[in-house]
Amino acid sequence: MKMILSVLFCTGLVFAQGPAIDDDALWAHFERWTAELKALPPGERASMRDRYVKGLTEAGVAADEAQTRHERIEKLRRASTHRERVYWDAAFKSGAGPDAPLELLRDTVAWLKPGRALDAGMGRGRNALYLASLGWDVTGYDISTDALKAAQAHAAQAGLKINAVEARHDTFEFGESKWDLIICAYCYMRLGEEQWPALLHKALKPGGIVVFQTSTATRFSVTDLAALWKGFRLLRAEDLDAGMVVNDWSPSRVHPTGKIVARRQ
Ligand SMILES: C[S@@+](CC[C@H](N)C(=O)[O-])C[C@H]1O[C@@H](n2cnc3c(N)ncnc32)[C@H](O)[C@@H]1O
Repeated sequence: MKMILSVLFCTGLVFAQGPAIDDDALWAHFERWTAELKALPPGERASMRDRYVKGLTEAGVAADEAQTRHERIEKLRRASTHRERVYWDAAFKSGAGPDAPLELLRDTVAWLKPGRALDAGMGRGRNALYLASLGWDVTGYDISTDALKAAQAHAAQAGLKINAVEARHDTFEFGESKWDLIICAYCYMRLGEEQWPALLHKALKPGGIVVFQTSTATRFSVTDLAALWKGFRLLRAEDLDAGMVVNDWSPSRVHPTGKIVARRQ
């Protein structure tokens, strides 16, 4: 029965009709929708959510149900890196994300000599391109093919060179003592998980700097952060209250945000 419903759903036959759509069928439809989604021209953007909800309502789904389905997609995408990649490809086809480099990065590199930099989960490359424009030798990786395409197109347009690699955090070859700077801006390394500081520590040259900013559901004191970031000297560590920080990725929302600038000892 489940399989029959999935097939009907994917062919659009029950798509408009009601809420009885299971997660697999909903995701399968979303994936098909993203594959057919047209990439906006460089510089143009639209909310991926609005595009998806509009597509659903035009297909006859009630507005409330369309919103609910989008909320379900937001949860379902977190189930695997494949799903994250499908999701982000669609987001980048819609021009997602800010163009300006992260303020914390700008403030930090103002006092650094250019060297070798890594942008983890670089998205459309706003930070990688900024670093390249300052003379850094930049590599960036991301799971999203469309993000990398957009980053390379921007680099070509600006006459800059970046090395763009398709990889995940758990497949990218970070190397050892290789980087003078690593930037992780909302890159889906969760604050509070010990594995990330450990991995970044190994990859950085001694004296190398990491700039890390992310939304966080949990509050961490600076003491907690110092304990987590073993082998680093924290140059800046901020855990700001909910409601105080505008996530520059979604400026309409405010989030508790963790900001760290740390030097490998
Ligand atoms: C909110 S965007 C931030 C992009 C970029 N750092 C910026 O600030 O503009 C999150 C990025 O992380 C990427 N991403 C998500 N999970 C990932 C993973 N497991 N490995 C690598 N990149 C990932 C997404 O494709 C997306 O480009």
